[in-house]
Amino acid sequence: MIYARIAGTGSCLPGNPVSNEDLVARGIDTSDEWIVSRSGIRSRYLAAADVGASDLARVAAEHAIEAAGCEADDIDLIIVATSTPDYIFPSTAALVQSKLGIRNGGPAFDVQAVCSGFVYALTVAEKFIRSGSHTRALVIGAEVFSRILDWSDRATCVLFGDGAGAVVLEASTQPGIRASALHADGSHHPILCVPGGVASGQVIGDPFLRMDGQAVFKFAVKVLGDVAQEVLEQAGAPADSVDWLIPHQANIRIIQATARRLGLPMERVVTTVDHHGNTSAASIPLALDEAVRSGQVRRGQRLVVEGVGGGFTWGAALIDF
Ligand code: ACO
Repeated sequence: MIYARIAGTGSCLPGNPVSNEDLVARGIDTSDEWIVSRSGIRSRYLAAADVGASDLARVAAEHAIEAAGCEADDIDLIIVATSTPDYIFPSTAALVQSKLGIRNGGPAFDVQAVCSGFVYALTVAEKFIRSGSHTRALVIGAEVFSRILDWSDRATCVLFGDGAGAVVLEASTQPGIRASALHADGSHHPILCVPGGVASGQVIGDPFLRMDGQAVFKFAVKVLGDVAQEVLEQAGAPADSVDWLIPHQANIRIIQATARRLGLPMERVVTTVDHHGNTSAASIPLALDEAVRSGQVRRGQRLVVEGVGGGFTWGAALIDF
């Protein structure tokens, strides 16, 4: 039996933290008290204008490859989850392959599922590996959401940040990812979207993120609770066998509500939203890498990762780390 196991993790955060007070100083009509009480966010990282998702992804990938104890050329599959790619094409994954100097001709492609993107990409990579067609995948979530924020819309611009996280997922005789579930319901697309595109050299429609915050909140709490239960049932694992819940880091109140639904105390939930903000597809691998490097998450522990995002899309995976 071939399983897919996480062999190493890595991450990258650009520049210095930007606090809520820094946003006020930049002229945004908000306050630390409002942002912290509504979202739990105290600071985030924002990439410089010349830094793209592929630059953050490359650094995160290098750290993950080093942690996995392999060489870049051992990677035979690259999947990048992003909604803020460098270009319309080629894919960010192809750019990362080039930046890492990988010349082995393995496939490289992007997955677009917004904040669920990392769980989608991980699940796709797991299926490649379990089929026996590929042995070592780089799975990356990388975002520069600051590029698609309307900085005059205080209800959204304070919530997001930039960054990248990566894992090396490799074939193993030991179980790693034990269960996964992916879902989408496109009928909810208006409540969270960037409803624009590019044609004839012009932006057509609206190039900025738009969100009905309260509708997103209700939807997120419901589906995150359901999908975590789904992977636990799939694996035949009770909720109390989970050492760490690593949810998408959108909002501390969504995270707390999801943990409550699963009956998990917050001491068993990895949270980075306070100092990363919402980094969309990057948030789960960023949180995972931080928890691994700080010694919070250790080998042999059981993790549930779960995400929800525009589309709407949502998904979860149960991982023996
Ligand atoms: N600073 C100060 N005041 C603000 C700000 C701000 N940054 N933004 C909005 N306000 C004001 C509004 O103008 C409004 O004022 P009014 O009552 O005078 O009209 C008031 O605050 C309340 O606005 P609401 O939008 O009703 O605020 P709410 O309590 O719903 O909080 C929030 C908004 C934080 C977005 C909340 O709905 C939420 O947490 N939603 C979840 C959305 C989320 O986390 N999305 C992440 C992306 S989706 C994902 O990753 C899955």
